[in-house]
Order: sequence, then structure tokens, then C-alpha cells
Amino acid sequence: MVKKEIKATILFSGDGTNLESILQENSFGILKNLYKIPIVITNNPNAGGIKKASNFNVKIEIIDSECEILELLKKYKIDFIILAGYKKILSRKFRRYFDNKMVVNIHPADTSLFKGLGGYKWAFNSSLKSTKITVHYVDEGVDTGEIIFQKEIDISNCKTLEEVISIGLSIEHRFYPEVLKKVAETIISPYL
Ligand code: GRF
Repeated sequence: MVKKEIKATILFSGDGTNLESILQENSFGILKNLYKIPIVITNNPNAGGIKKASNFNVKIEIIDSECEILELLKKYKIDFIILAGYKKILSRKFRRYFDNKMVVNIHPADTSLFKGLGGYKWAFNSSLKSTKITVHYVDEGVDTGEIIFQKEIDISNCKTLEEVISIGLSIEHRFYPEVLKKVAETIISPYL
């Protein structure tokens, strides 16, 4: 039972294709009325996601300093952080401010098998027939937080790494919003 919208932000560093799908679903699709996303934040002034975010009614901040990010999150009364291709590790101090279950991330591999950058490359180079995408809570380690949901993807027909990435990302774009919807409806809202 949803009691109110969750005030959230998205942190990103790169192309921002997941950021775009989340903002799209939040404005017009399955996340509408579940999350309120007043601001998105990147540490990278050249991030492709900046242009994508500019198509939505959301403030975009380019900030590298964690202290400044924290100040901003307090100012906007943000309860929930969605990491989408954010390439910095959050410090213990930052994590302590937010409950473990209030920060989530998407990882392009099964986090119990592969952590860190390059999940699709790992799957391709390991000649896997299928791999997994993981949405997990973020704790103080790198991709070590509790798994929320995973999605298996068939990559057996992929001849190149580019094909694996393309298939994987297109599935991420549907999967991440679906998981965020379940998280909002079943896990978080009762506590707000
Ligand atoms: C995705 O593969 C995601 O799983 C990982 O980083 C990539 C980000 O892509 N965390 P994008 O910036 O959302 O396009």
C-alpha cells in the first residue's frame, strides 16, 4: 500500500540510459505517483545523461564533492537514492546518513559472481550463454549489498561484446523501473 510519493534522486556518471528510462517511467509510466524526483546529480560534466535529463522537469546538478551532494540531498529532503551508472564509491559517512535500504543500484552481472566495472565484458569474455542483471541495495562495499531482484538474459546468440551490451541495456531499461516500482509499493512506503 503506497502512502505517499518517495522523494528520490538519481546519481549518474555516463550515458544515462537508465536515468532516462527511469525519468520516462516516472513522468508517464509505471513509476508515476510513486517517486518524486526533483533533482538528478552527476559527477561528470561530460555525462551524456545531462542532455537526456534536460528533456524532463528535473533540476540537474554537476557536483563531485560528496559533502556538497549531501547538503543538496538534505535541502531537497531526499529519502531515496537511485544509482544509475554512478562510477564513484559512496563513503561510509555518506552511507551512514542513509539507511542501507534507501540506496539502490543496477549492476550488469550477478553480483555474487562478478563485482565492479565491465560486467558485460566479463560475461562475453567468459563465453557465458546467459548472464544476470542485478538490482541491489548499496552497502559500504562495491556491489556487495543485498540483492533485491535479478533478471537472467540469454546472450547465447551474441557474436560481439556490443551485441551483449545492447541486449543487456535494453533489458535493464525495463527491469530497473519494474524493480523500483516493487520496492516503492512493497518495501519502502509503509515506513515513510
Ligand atoms: C549499466 O550497464 C548499469 O548496469 C551499470 O552502468 C551502466 C550504466 O549505463 N551500473 P547508463 O549510464 O545507464 O547508460
